[in-house]
Amino acid sequence: MGLTGHFQWDLPVILNGITRSLSVGLSNNENIQIPSDVLGYEAPRLSDSDLTERIRKFFTSSLEAEDAKFDKVTFYISEKNLKITKDRNYKKWRTKALYIGNESARIWDKIEDDHAYEINIQAIKSFLGIMIKGEKVDFKNIDNIVSLGCGNGITDNAFVKNVTQVNDSISYIPIDINPMMVHFASQNIDPTIRIPFAIIDDFEENVDHIENIINEKMIKIRKNNFFMMLGVTFSNLEGTEVLFFNKVKKWMGPNDYFLIDLSLNSENDKEKLRVTFEDDNYKKLLYNSLIKRKLINTDTLIDKDGFTPKPIKKNNLKQQYTDLESTTVYSCKYKDTTLLISKRYNVEDIASLIGTHFKLIELEDSEEESKKEKTFLSQFGKEKAFFLFKLT
Ligand SMILES: C[S@@+](CC[C@H](N)C(=O)[O-])C[C@H]1O[C@@H](n2cnc3c(N)ncnc32)[C@H](O)[C@@H]1O
Repeated sequence: MGLTGHFQWDLPVILNGITRSLSVGLSNNENIQIPSDVLGYEAPRLSDSDLTERIRKFFTSSLEAEDAKFDKVTFYISEKNLKITKDRNYKKWRTKALYIGNESARIWDKIEDDHAYEINIQAIKSFLGIMIKGEKVDFKNIDNIVSLGCGNGITDNAFVKNVTQVNDSISYIPIDINPMMVHFASQNIDPTIRIPFAIIDDFEENVDHIENIINEKMIKIRKNNFFMMLGVTFSNLEGTEVLFFNKVKKWMGPNDYFLIDLSLNSENDKEKLRVTFEDDNYKKLLYNSLIKRKLINTDTLIDKDGFTPKPIKKNNLKQQYTDLESTTVYSCKYKDTTLLISKRYNVEDIASLIGTHFKLIELEDSEEESKKEKTFLSQFGKEKAFFLFKLT
């Protein structure tokens, strides 16, 4: 990080991860081994007539997205979000208040890094295999993978790294409400994958800021985007599905894809959720959120049922979160404050809702009939489904 160029005088070894290297040699030296990740490599010879021009260009090239590969990430931070954080004005926040501050990013880092989370990483890798094998997405024509809610980037890296086998010039663009999360992601993404910039913002609220950056910056770095929102973040959204779909439509272009995973309704959901929130790290995440919102002090004891998610029964309340009657919406409350929303979907109903807003890509693998979703188990035995779609 921070290093944007590197000059070397015919050294046979080029440092891994330093991606803009200039090597000026006396003659053609066949012995120089160039690691495949050194994309910005320039090797003029002293005898070249345009040598001065090539060196000048190398050192003066712009550090904007196009050239600042790998070594530098520009963060576009939203003013609105910055103000909310500065004023600690989290009253309207629900699930996203779990991710306030550095400590929450550290707790999430542990969750995503834990071996129990590996099941999610395997799921996304299998799903990528299905997309590539079934030629559902032509990754050769995708320029950017845009991750909404990147987390610590470990899951994203498993995905993006595998995509590089098909397209080794793909860029990764993380978007998250928490800057520390993006910092972790930029560290965890393989250094051969370029991160031209990152956006720190609330993707549920500040649609325009994200839209402006996407429109202005992505055109410069070419434009076919693969958006993804993983880790069942969709199930935790604070507003309704249609509200979110209408926002997504503003960011997507005709060649873009969107991939989401979401939690499905199943028997024993209540029990599975209870087990999730008995997990030490999830408990810490909730606890930390209460501290950040100044609802408790560090030494406040919370009774055993404090973090038990309960289904919202009242229809008028439920309608704030879902457009589908068949969705079970669990809410976890502390006194009067909602700490977390977790939605469980009926698979046909959510498929049909997505289908009325987007073109759902049919998914099948060798053993299965054509389907609109692909299901996997996630940690704590919860069932989740992946949906892939484009604009209609
Ligand atoms: C459940 S984690 C998922 C992390 C990762 N994508 C994965 O697959 O494990 C949710 C992530 O989304 C971010 N997030 C949640 N709500 C957000 C919002 N409204 N805007 C931006 N980021 C948000 C959180 O900070 C966190 O990094």
